[in-house]
Amino acid sequence: MRLKKLEIGFILSLIFWGNNMFDAYKIRKDFPILDRLIEGKRNTYLDTAASAQKPFVMLEEIRKAYLDEYANVHRGSYWLSEKATENYEKARQSAAHFINAEKPEEIIFTRSATEGINLVAATFGAMTLKLGDEILLSRAEHHANLVTWQQWAAKTGAKLVYFDLEEDGSFSWNKFTDSLNENTKIVAVTAMSNVLGTVFPVKQICTAAHNVGAKVLIDACQFAVHKKIDVKDFNCDFLAFSGHKVYGPTGIGILYGKYDLLADMPPYQYGGDMIEHVSYEKTFFTNPPARFEAGTPAIVQAIGLGASLNYLMQFDFNEIEEYENNLTDYATKQMSEISGLKILGAAKEKGGVFSFAIDGIHPQDLAFILGKEGIAIRTGHFCAEPLVNYLGYTSLARASLGIYTIKEDIDEFIKALYKAKDFFS
Ligand code: ALA
Repeated sequence: MRLKKLEIGFILSLIFWGNNMFDAYKIRKDFPILDRLIEGKRNTYLDTAASAQKPFVMLEEIRKAYLDEYANVHRGSYWLSEKATENYEKARQSAAHFINAEKPEEIIFTRSATEGINLVAATFGAMTLKLGDEILLSRAEHHANLVTWQQWAAKTGAKLVYFDLEEDGSFSWNKFTDSLNENTKIVAVTAMSNVLGTVFPVKQICTAAHNVGAKVLIDACQFAVHKKIDVKDFNCDFLAFSGHKVYGPTGIGILYGKYDLLADMPPYQYGGDMIEHVSYEKTFFTNPPARFEAGTPAIVQAIGLGASLNYLMQFDFNEIEEYENNLTDYATKQMSEISGLKILGAAKEKGGVFSFAIDGIHPQDLAFILGKEGIAIRTGHFCAEPLVNYLGYTSLARASLGIYTIKEDIDEFIKALYKAKDFFS
């Protein structure tokens, strides 16, 4: 009996992962790019933390949106505009459903997670922060969260406070609560570090912050890829994530805000579609979310993101987590057996992100050698330079998982690491 490659993969997956229903081998068929050769080699894509590959259904939705149903939104009373508006607003509903928001009006389409965080800082932050107030961040924040609050602290006179992590990169409840007090007005933290993989206890953070009267903004960029977001359960005030990391297009992100907070916030930018009424002297702004979506929005990107979220929602996130935890354990074990290799981040609650260093090999050289084997990893400080420096490095290498990552990807990666070690020895 001759078995096709994918059938063998499926059987292997059953043996390797037991009875798990989540089937990464089947999922790979939805991502055409994974089949192409890279430098003549198998495409081993281990950089999903930087940006995820795209499923065909999402690309098809974008094609349809441009070719069959394209016009500007919220502006025309003709069929194409009404259809484009309907598709755009359906994407908002999908995003609300994806994060379990109370209503679609709590979803603002932004250019990126970075823009979402900047929006909160420039509106909510600017109107609430004053001298003596504190903004509390972890040491593990991405530049999007860190630089933004650093700048708005300087503008408003608020103090920026960082809480430390444990030695192994775990979230430290004591260190967090020691830094939290009645001066804390905003807690802005990642839900999962893009460097350490550490998953933060978001729900407990929100409860503790609310007890001292602070509001919480969650950077969910990495978390959204691996775990179920439930803003009602978290009870966070704001949450941002980017589209391109959840298998959607670039140029689009989601900002969630509790509606009452959004309703009290001033606009972030001014322009078309965010107004109620304009005279030469004065403007009355409309309600959220339109108040925060000035100008023609990223219509097709939003529709594409809606498609990728619908695609993700067909899976059970518990199964995704279970599958990725097994793969994370497997990769960690294999990497730990390589002498001179150090993984940064050993939290018990950890997602599929492995930052590492190998004695005597510069990460850039390592990435070059792996690249020639068709293996994509990221190097540098991963837009978290203070954290990488705090860990004692200026540059690291990082491999990361997505829903299409399989054991064979890890095996290729490990094989190439040994090869690189041989080369530099
Ligand atoms: N911030 C993204 C990363 O971690 C781009 O790679």
